[in-house]
Amino acid sequence: PPSHFITTADYSADQLFNLVDRAIQLKVESKYQYPQSSRERPLTGKTLALLFSKLSTRTRVATESSVAYLGGHAMFLGSRDIQLGVNESLLDTSRVVSSMVDGIMARVGEHDEIELLAKESKVPVINALSAKYHPTQILADLMTLHEHIHHLQQGKKDQYTAHTQHPSETLPGTKVAWVGDANNILQEMLVSFPKLGMHLSAACPQDYRCDQDVVDLAKNDSKVTGTDLVFTTNPQEAIKGADVVVTDTWISMGQEEEKTKRLQDFAGYQVTMDMVEKAGAKLDWSFMHCLPRKSEEVDDEVFYSDRSLVFPEAENRKWTIMAVIDALMVNGRI
Ligand code: CP
Ligand code: NVA
Repeated sequence: PPSHFITTADYSADQLFNLVDRAIQLKVESKYQYPQSSRERPLTGKTLALLFSKLSTRTRVATESSVAYLGGHAMFLGSRDIQLGVNESLLDTSRVVSSMVDGIMARVGEHDEIELLAKESKVPVINALSAKYHPTQILADLMTLHEHIHHLQQGKKDQYTAHTQHPSETLPGTKVAWVGDANNILQEMLVSFPKLGMHLSAACPQDYRCDQDVVDLAKNDSKVTGTDLVFTTNPQEAIKGADVVVTDTWISMGQEEEKTKRLQDFAGYQVTMDMVEKAGAKLDWSFMHCLPRKSEEVDDEVFYSDRSLVFPEAENRKWTIMAVIDALMVNGRI
C-alpha cells in the first residue's frame, strides 16, 4: 500500500525533524542557490489531484505552486466541480480518482473521510485539513520556529542560514502556549510537539476539549521526552514563560452557526500585548497564527508587530508541502 500523510502522529520525531530539514533545503535551493533552469523536475508527467470540500488560500496556492516547481500537474477539484457529495459517494470517487492520478491532497469535513480515502486509494494521500488534524500546517509552524530560533541564536537575520542547523538542534525545549479553541490545529500540535521535546500549554475555555485519544497520545509522548504538557482554562497560566504564543480562529470552517455562542465563550481570550506581557511570557516572545485571521482572537497590534511570524509562517506552507509531496510522490515514503 502507498504511504500517506494523514497526521504527524503517524511519524517519529526523526522523520518529522528530517521533513522540516528537507523543506528548509528546498527553500534555500529554490530561493537562494540555483537558477530556475538547472533544477530537476522529478514530477514530470505526474498529476496530484486536489480534492477540496472547503475553501483554501494558503494550502491550495502552496500545493499548486509546489507541484508546478517539481514539474507536475496539480488538478484542483473543488466541491462544485465534481460529482462528489452530489451524485457520487466518497468511496466511489476515491477509487476512480486514484486510478488516474499519482497522488491526492484532500481537504475534508470529518476525519473519517480522509481515513476512508487513504484506505481506498492506490496512490499517496495527503491530509490538507480535516476537523481533527492539519498536519501540513504544523510542519510549517515547526519550520518557522526553527528559522526564528536560529535567527535569535545567530543574533542577526540579514542572510538565510537556517539550513546550516538541523531542526533537532533548535526546536527541543521551546515553550509553546496555545490560547484558543480545542481544534484541528491544537490537536495536530498535541500529537507532535511533546514527541519533539517541546513544551506545550493549552488554554481553552471550559467545555472546549480535545479528543481523548489525542490527549492520551500527547500525555504519553510528554512522559517519554520529559516535557511539560499543561491544559488549563486560564490564558495567563498557559502564557507564563512562553517563547511563542499561538492562536487560531474561534470559528472553524463548518461552525458558522455557532458564532454567537462561541464569541461569548471565548471572552477574555483575545491575544493582546497587555495580556501576554501581564502573563509573563519570555522577553523575546513571538506570535504565530495559521491564518485566515479575524481580529477577535488577536488584535492588530500583536498581529502586525515585529513579534508576529504569521507571514513567514504562511510562506513556509509552500516549502513544507513541497517536502511532503517530494517525499511521497518522488521517494515513495516520508
Ligand atoms: N492555514 C491554512 O490552511 O489556510 P487556508 O485555509 O487558506 O489553506
Ligand atoms: N481551524 C481552522 C483552520 C483553518 C486553516 C479551520 O478548521 O477552519
